[in-house]
Amino acid sequence: MTTNTTKTLRHFLTLMDFSSAELRAMTDRAISLKQMQKAGEIYEPLKNRMLGMIFEKSSTRTRVSFETGMVQFGGGALFLSPRDTQLGRGEPIEDSARVLSKMVDIIMIRTFEHEKLETFAQYSSVPVINALTDMYHPCQLLADMQCYQENRGSIEGKTVAWIGDGNNMCHSYINAARQWGFKLKIACPEGYDPDAAIFAAAGDQVEIIRDPMTASIDADMVVTDVWTSMGQEEEQLRREKAFTGYIVDDKLMAQADTDALFMHCLPAHRGEEVSASVIDGPQSVVWDEAGNRLHAQKALLEFLMGQTPSL
Ligand code: CP
Ligand code: NVA
Repeated sequence: MTTNTTKTLRHFLTLMDFSSAELRAMTDRAISLKQMQKAGEIYEPLKNRMLGMIFEKSSTRTRVSFETGMVQFGGGALFLSPRDTQLGRGEPIEDSARVLSKMVDIIMIRTFEHEKLETFAQYSSVPVINALTDMYHPCQLLADMQCYQENRGSIEGKTVAWIGDGNNMCHSYINAARQWGFKLKIACPEGYDPDAAIFAAAGDQVEIIRDPMTASIDADMVVTDVWTSMGQEEEQLRREKAFTGYIVDDKLMAQADTDALFMHCLPAHRGEEVSASVIDGPQSVVWDEAGNRLHAQKALLEFLMGQTPSL
């Protein structure tokens, strides 16, 4: 097998760091890696390689998928929390980046300010992955796009309804609409719009429609997320009021195409942003979506480490 041995340092801070062709190829590769895994094939392109995982916020899926992926690839992963490292005691991010990248081969970070991730990447000599910031969650989109493709084929030209907060997930959906070529209809209450610059950059691929029922008409996919993201806990009551009526329930799903899929990055709050009948119902693909975090990120790790087999 020949491998892509290019040594150019690439980071994955947003979906816009890759070309549309690279992202689509990565989705195809994730589907192949999933099949290989299910067939019990041993494939260890990252033997003895180490992923550093910095988590300044909680995680279930992201941690488990990255750690498992590295082990399946023959390498290892280190969980680094600010509570136990000097990062939490004020060691500068620039110094931490220079030191860690002398020892590990690739680094993922989940943090608050997106700028912190950018600074880290600037000082890192190894690839850096955005594992969620207040602004973006690009890894989740790799899994979501894979999930759509597996269930319905190409998403190009389709319509996706985003119901809820104009948050980090919404921003990554806006970027995904540009990169995968679908229309995104965003239903968010006033005051909870996505970032104006991110929205404007997507041109007529995206549209804000306040009313969630209208936004969902004929949608090929309906997607939502929590109303209160990590770091916004003190706004919870205000947000519960503001998002009243923004629940994805059976009535809303009935507006969408009969073949529409429902996705949610999880964790979910049944009875808030989604009804139990929808998330646990026949149109929901949330468990496959979550499971795809493993395969999508294995394709990402392989790519960033220059190990994707050339065809
Ligand atoms: N969807 C997601 O990123 O889940 P975790 O917060 O559990 O990692
Ligand atoms: N918007 C959510 C996503 C969690 C995976 C948050 O940032 O908390």
